[in-house]
Amino acid sequence: MANIDRRNLIAFLGGAAAVAGMTAEAKAEGIESYLAASVTSVPPGTAPKRPPTVAELEAQIPTRPYRRGAGKLFAAEQGNVPLLAALPAKPTLTDFIRLRFMGTSEHCLQSARLARQKNLDEDIVFACLIHDLSLNVMRTDHGFWGAQMFEPYVSEKVTFAVRHHATLRFFPDKEAGYEYPELYRTMFGSDYVVPAHQQAEYQMVRKHRWYSASRQVTVNDLYSFEPGVKVSIDDFVDVIGRHFRQPKEGLGLDASPVAHIWRSAANPDSPL
Ligand SMILES: [Fe+2]
Ligand SMILES: [Fe+2]
Repeated sequence: MANIDRRNLIAFLGGAAAVAGMTAEAKAEGIESYLAASVTSVPPGTAPKRPPTVAELEAQIPTRPYRRGAGKLFAAEQGNVPLLAALPAKPTLTDFIRLRFMGTSEHCLQSARLARQKNLDEDIVFACLIHDLSLNVMRTDHGFWGAQMFEPYVSEKVTFAVRHHATLRFFPDKEAGYEYPELYRTMFGSDYVVPAHQQAEYQMVRKHRWYSASRQVTVNDLYSFEPGVKVSIDDFVDVIGRHFRQPKEGLGLDASPVAHIWRSAANPDSPL
C-alpha cells in the first residue's frame, strides 16, 4: 500500500468527488483494479495515459443521460439511484449527513479528521466537515451553494471558508502546502483555463483576512482520501453542536430563506 501514488489512484478512481461517493468495498475493489492496471497495462518507463483536453471532455457531454453539474442525490453516475430512508420529523444536520449526504459524508469526515489532527481551530475543523456537503445538491459552483445552504446557521467566517474553497482549489499556495491538483487535469481538462470571474474571486479572497480559513479547507481537502480509514460522525457531534445553530423546527422546516434547499435534499424524488 505504501507504494501507491495517492494522486494517481484518485485520478484512476475518477477523481476526488467520485472517490468520496464510493463505499469502502468499492474503494477496495478500485484499489485492486488500480494495482492490476499498474502491473499489467503500464510497462515500466511508459508514460501513463494523458489527461483529456477541454474539447475531449466537452465531446463526452452528449454521451451521458445526466449533466456533470447535477447534485449527487439527483443522478447516479452508474446504475440507478437508491431508495432513501425517511428523515425524522425535525431533521438535524447529523440526520442529513447520515441519510442524505452519503455521497460526500466520508470525504468530509476525513477532511475534518485531518484538520483536527493538525490542531486547527475548531471552526476550521467544522468548515472542513461541511465543505462538500452541497455537492449532493449541486456540483456546479458548489462552494457558493454550500455557503448559501449553511449561512443562516454558521458563523460568517465558516460561510466564507466554504464559499471560496472551491475556487481556491484552482490556485496553488506553496507556503500553505497546496499545489494544483493533478486530478483537476483529468476532471477539467489538461488545457483548462480558470474563468475570469473566478480569477477575480481569487484576487479578492487572497487579500481577505479570512483567506487562511478558506485555504485550510483546500489543504485538508487534498489528502483526505485514506483507504481503510473510517471516521464516524459521532466523533464530531460536539463540534456540530458548538458551530451549527440547529433550527428547532428542523432543517427545511424553519422559515429561513434557504429552507427550500434543505427540503429539496430531504425530498429529491419530488416531481415538482
Ligand atoms: Fe469542494
Ligand atoms: Fe472536498
